[in-house]
Amino acid sequence: MTQPTSTDPRRIHIFDTTLRDGEQSPGVALNHAQKLEIAHQLARLGVDVIEAGFPITSDGDFECVSRISREVRGPVICGLARTARADIERAAKALEAAARSRIHVFTSASKVQIEHMLRKTPEQVIESSVQAVRLARQYTDDVEFSGQDVMRADFDFVIRLYREAIEAGATVINIPDTVGYGTPQEYGALIARVRDEIVQGRNVAISTHCHDDLGMATANSLAAVENGATQIECTVNGIGERAGNTSLEEVVMAIHTRRDHYQAQTGINTREINRVSRMVSRLTGMPVQPNKAIVGENAFAHESGIHQDGVLKHKETYEIMNAELVGREAAVMVMGKHSGRAAFRKALSDLGYVTDGQNDFGLNDEAINVLFTRFKELADRKGQIYADDLRALVEAGAEIAQT
Ligand code: KIV
Ligand code: ZN
Repeated sequence: MTQPTSTDPRRIHIFDTTLRDGEQSPGVALNHAQKLEIAHQLARLGVDVIEAGFPITSDGDFECVSRISREVRGPVICGLARTARADIERAAKALEAAARSRIHVFTSASKVQIEHMLRKTPEQVIESSVQAVRLARQYTDDVEFSGQDVMRADFDFVIRLYREAIEAGATVINIPDTVGYGTPQEYGALIARVRDEIVQGRNVAISTHCHDDLGMATANSLAAVENGATQIECTVNGIGERAGNTSLEEVVMAIHTRRDHYQAQTGINTREINRVSRMVSRLTGMPVQPNKAIVGENAFAHESGIHQDGVLKHKETYEIMNAELVGREAAVMVMGKHSGRAAFRKALSDLGYVTDGQNDFGLNDEAINVLFTRFKELADRKGQIYADDLRALVEAGAEIAQT
């Protein structure tokens, strides 16, 4: 076996929680068949871990985690559990048929959650966490531990809590910014502290789990990677509680496109990204905003004349990645009032109206100039111009070509 060298990129594991945290999006409820369809597609995408559900919450969730455990092969299948014995036993039961299983035990780390939600003392939180991790380890040797809301917690307490969880047998420690409060610099610094003070030298993975309340989930997750995290928790299209979770497609493509910077790689088959995005949108009923990075309708569309001209001359003038790399069709030129002559000519050419004077319409440069003026007038009135509009323009202008 080849030993990794210090110049090999670090392998970042993608932990997909679309079916658990993602399903916590207001108004979303997936049935078993839909969850199974998504889980199979996540396996094709190449995620490392699928968090399939929270088995104690309902018989339906339990059944779904069991089915995914039975039927989906490839990724580790994970079930969520609070620190209560019943939760852990239920998760373990649901995961019984998985080829590789993980129990994800979570508690709270911030004062406000410990006092008002758990109604415990910090010492009791540590004690119940230790008991829970030990119990989970009786069922699997892959146990993840999380303390919710770390970014509003006392960091010294966070360090103590996680140190005890590792001593009790946690193999992955996940650092959730549950309410999306941290900045990239603060979050990265906490991850570095966890790495240096409690993980250094041990076979324990650091995981990042961010929410997007202030629009910083992707930046925070990447800051974590820069500071030692080797697992990113995320959801397809960034769906999830409130403003959602870190978007899978964003972190994966950031690491891929800027591998020079992150010196890391994931195991994701990026060409499956568009397919999974559309599937999740269709099954959850949550549309993707048009300007969403990577998967939005406009993510690879060029509108302005200057951009269109640049891309026609050399793709890299305005493209940092190929649309095909994420399973989409090549970048499109949106025809409208900002489009320039070069893009107009290209669009006519793509529609089969060869612009070299050899076609039926005889569109020479002069004819194109006339049509271009008409196109601009139409675009001013109509906004976006579609292929049929261009065809109509050419056909209505057929007499120009004959003159
Ligand atoms: O946001 C959060 O804290 C969570 C935990 C259960 C990990 O989703
Ligand atoms: Zn979460």
